[in-house]
Amino acid sequence: MSKLQEEINTRRTFAIISHPDAGKTTITEKVLLFGNAIQSAGTVKGRGSSAHAKSDWMEMEKERGISVTTSVMQFPYQDCLINLLDTPGHEDFSEDTYRTLTAVDSCLMVIDAAKGVEQRTIKLMEVTRLRDTPILTFMNKLDRDTKDPVELMDEVEEVLNIACAPITWPIGMGKEFKGVYNLYTDEIILYKTGQGSKIQDKVVIKGLDSDEASQVLGAYADDFRDEIELVRGASHEFDLDMFLAGELSPVFFGTALGNFGVDHMLDGLVKWAPKPQGREADTGLIESNDPEFTGFVFKIQANMDPKHRDRIAFMRIVSGKYEKGMKMKHARINKDIRVADALTFLAGDRSAIEQAYAGDIIGLHNHGTIQIGDTFSQTKAIKFGGIPNFAPELFRRIQLKDPLKMKQLQKGLIQLSEEGAVQVFRPLRNNDLIVGAVGILQFDVVVHRLRTEYKVEATYVPISVSTARWVDCDDQTKLSAFRTKCHENLALDGADNLTYIAPTMVNLSLAQERHPDVTFMTTREQ
Ligand code: G4P
Repeated sequence: MSKLQEEINTRRTFAIISHPDAGKTTITEKVLLFGNAIQSAGTVKGRGSSAHAKSDWMEMEKERGISVTTSVMQFPYQDCLINLLDTPGHEDFSEDTYRTLTAVDSCLMVIDAAKGVEQRTIKLMEVTRLRDTPILTFMNKLDRDTKDPVELMDEVEEVLNIACAPITWPIGMGKEFKGVYNLYTDEIILYKTGQGSKIQDKVVIKGLDSDEASQVLGAYADDFRDEIELVRGASHEFDLDMFLAGELSPVFFGTALGNFGVDHMLDGLVKWAPKPQGREADTGLIESNDPEFTGFVFKIQANMDPKHRDRIAFMRIVSGKYEKGMKMKHARINKDIRVADALTFLAGDRSAIEQAYAGDIIGLHNHGTIQIGDTFSQTKAIKFGGIPNFAPELFRRIQLKDPLKMKQLQKGLIQLSEEGAVQVFRPLRNNDLIVGAVGILQFDVVVHRLRTEYKVEATYVPISVSTARWVDCDDQTKLSAFRTKCHENLALDGADNLTYIAPTMVNLSLAQERHPDVTFMTTREQ
């Protein structure tokens, strides 16, 4: 086996999807603990606590207690190297999440077992379906009174339309939670309370029918054995092919807070989740073991670390190997660039890397030439697709408190729109700056970041804009006629793409009717 293939085989690149409060941050923290990436797991963003989860490094996130940005973490687990991409749980940042999900090969779905399947999980599962991403499931908070586990599985199957294969099964719940039984290894793994911030010694009892098991289960032993019999009969058996096709999810039970069960899930991830997969380019499928280096940028983040005031482009390596100092072709601008200082990430800490392989995420310093969706390759002229921008649904005009800071404001907004944090539109007819967002919180984040990162005080003024569409037309004469006719409604976005800004939906329909040769797009592929 080639060295490249060996490296690829050891990699797993995944993201966690869940409804806010299901426990994603807590699980991330425990996962990092198992990966020896942090020494001890502190309280996650608890009120009055100064220890925040390492994945939440932006001040904004700490203030609001939500994950605004996507962070990238790499750590070893068993013989594997795992890349975990964190995603914002709040729906106002769904674009960021959507793009991140294009860069992973599998997902962990975390469900609050007391609440069952929640609305945001349903949405995120729809997104993973677009690429049939394999899904592992973690039923969290078993230390509380939860829904009945059988009901939970039924709910997932029905609402999310995915078969469930329990790998472990909980023994009791809430105060009576004793641990889990692994249906495949015939082992009971016991839970101890008060051990949440460290890796516990695993207490394992071999055999459900053993005397030891009878002792531990006590009066509950016979009922539990019957329950397991029922579960085996009524649930799906794990099937690797179905899992890889995104049709069946292995299910684990536990408590992230109590650090119990997270490692069982990680074992499953290492064993079953796919190694880095190839991606479709305009020239066809690029396999991960193609020796030539290729990759695409799925996220840009400015001022990630106040100590290094810079912009970082996050690239998923699709194939081959990155080596320090290598030359890469930047397809969109058709230029070769030499990259000597790509970064790797460990929950907010960053360091320069010598080499990285397909499946890894590397950070490139961006001096304004890299955009979300850009493809890089060693020599091939290719373009990876499928990273969309969504037409914003909310609009505000941004107003400066100090008019002399116009330059900084423009710079800040353009950079933030490059990140995809927000979209900015500059009407052709005046000097207004219109900010467009998919979720309302994005507006607050932008003003906050303009103040802290660009030293610009800005406020919003309501504006009567109902929607925006990117426009294009193959026929240049018709496009030019359209530009003249609709000049009042046209604007350029942050990357200078022509956009139609509609004051009402009726206005948009009329424009579409009058200009049938012009395409009005709700998403723009980057
Ligand atoms: P999120 O990133 O998905 O939004 O969830 P996060 O990890 O922040 O967890 C949300 C809340 O649920 C947190 O409580 C966290 O402590 C709690 N939690 C996470 N996992 C478990 C678990 O296994 N069992 C129990 N009982 N709770 C869990 P919080 O209300 O934000 O803070 P706190 O006041 O409880 O500390």
